[in-house]
Amino acid sequence: MPSAPEIEQAAGLSRTVVLVGLMGAGKSTVGRGLADRLGVKFVDSDAEIEAAADMTIPEIFERFDEEYFRNGERRVIARLLAEEPCILATGGGAFLSSENREMIGDAGVSVWINADLETLWGRVKGKTNRPLLNCDDPKGILAQLLEDRYPLYGTADIVVSSAGGDLHEVVILAIMQALNDAGYLPESTTNEGDL
Ligand code: S3P
Repeated sequence: MPSAPEIEQAAGLSRTVVLVGLMGAGKSTVGRGLADRLGVKFVDSDAEIEAAADMTIPEIFERFDEEYFRNGERRVIARLLAEEPCILATGGGAFLSSENREMIGDAGVSVWINADLETLWGRVKGKTNRPLLNCDDPKGILAQLLEDRYPLYGTADIVVSSAGGDLHEVVILAIMQALNDAGYLPESTTNEGDL
C-alpha cells in the first residue's frame, strides 16, 4: 500500500473517474477526497439532478416517478462526462442502465466501491433521503438490491473494497493506486517508483 505523502504527488486526470456502487458505499465521501488529492473537480450526479429539477430526490420520486428520475440521471451523466475530467459520484442505480454504462465506458473509467450488507446498512439506516429505502423493510430491500446489482457493478473497470472498519482514506488510496497502475494518472505528476 503506498503511503499518503508519496501519493500526494499525483495530480490531474486523463479521464473522468465515475464512482459506482450501492447506497452507503461511500461514493460521495471517497469522491470528494479523491478529487481533493488529484486537484480536480468533484461532482455528484444526485446533487446535479436535484439542482436541475429544483427538488430533492424524494420529492422527484413522489411528484413524478422513478422513470422520470432515471431520465434526468442519464441526461446529467451525459452532460458531466462531456466536461473536463473530474471525479463523478453516481447514484446507486446509474450503472444499471446499459446506456449509462456505454457512455461511461466511452468517456470515463468506472470504479466500483464494493461493500458488504452490514457496512452499507450501518451507513444508510435511519436516513430518509433515499426513496427506495423508505419502506417497511429497508434492510431487506438493500439485501435484494445487493444481490441484483453486484454482478453488473462487477463489470466496472476498477473494483475496490470498502470494509466495515476501513477509513475512507484507505479506499481513496486504493483507487489512486489502481488508477495509476492502469495509466489514468499523468506520468509527469506521478512517481512510478513510489506508487
Ligand atoms: C438510488 C441511489 C441514490 C439515488 C436514488 C436511487 C439507487 O443515490 O440516486 O435514491 O437506485 O440505488 P446514492 O447511491 O448516492 O444513495
